[in-house]
Amino acid sequence: MFLKRFNSQKESIVNIAGNAKLDIPRGTEIENQVQMIGLTKEDLRIMNRLQPIVIEKIDDIVSEFYKNLENEPSLLTIIHDKSSIDRLRKTLKKHISEMFDGVIDQTYFEKRIRIAQIHVKIGLKTKWYMCAFQDLLLSLTTIIEEHIEDRVEAFLAVKAVTNAGSV
Ligand code: HEM
Repeated sequence: MFLKRFNSQKESIVNIAGNAKLDIPRGTEIENQVQMIGLTKEDLRIMNRLQPIVIEKIDDIVSEFYKNLENEPSLLTIIHDKSSIDRLRKTLKKHISEMFDGVIDQTYFEKRIRIAQIHVKIGLKTKWYMCAFQDLLLSLTTIIEEHIEDRVEAFLAVKAVTNAGSV
């Protein structure tokens, strides 16, 4: 059980090393963004520590994500016109798993720009992207709540996920 695992001192998300890389171009807007939200290497280390519990639940997260989109018919029309649920399930799974690598570097930003451009190209309205993103964040915070009993550690995990999701 992960709950137990993340409650013992030995398996704490804070006290155990995880992989992290925060490599941002100096003197750029990206650096300002990172400073504004207070994203740190520690957040990324925590993200990496959370990766196994997220991967364990990834099928549920992705199913919930697309089930929620069914509430808005215009989104299903876009998906069926431009892609397919099956294809998007695969890309979203990979994307979520990579979010928890704990690495934010040039490649990370290039991927984010490409994803943003794709969504603009398919005509996805910002409000729907934000709703979908919030739904995803809720799934991730629910997993944290279920797996991390210690209040402070759970808070640090939520902070890391929301921070990393903001760049
Ligand atoms: C949290 C919100 C979302 C995330 C993280 C996300 C993530 C992604 C990713 C990683 C890709 C693949 C980009 C690539 O090929 O490099 C993609 C493509 C796409 N997304 Fe999203 N997406 C989100 C919201 C949505 C929503 C709400 C729709 C609803 C219409 C949507 C529809 C699509 C479509 C049609 C593509 C193109 C896929 C293709 O080329 O076959 N996405 N998305």
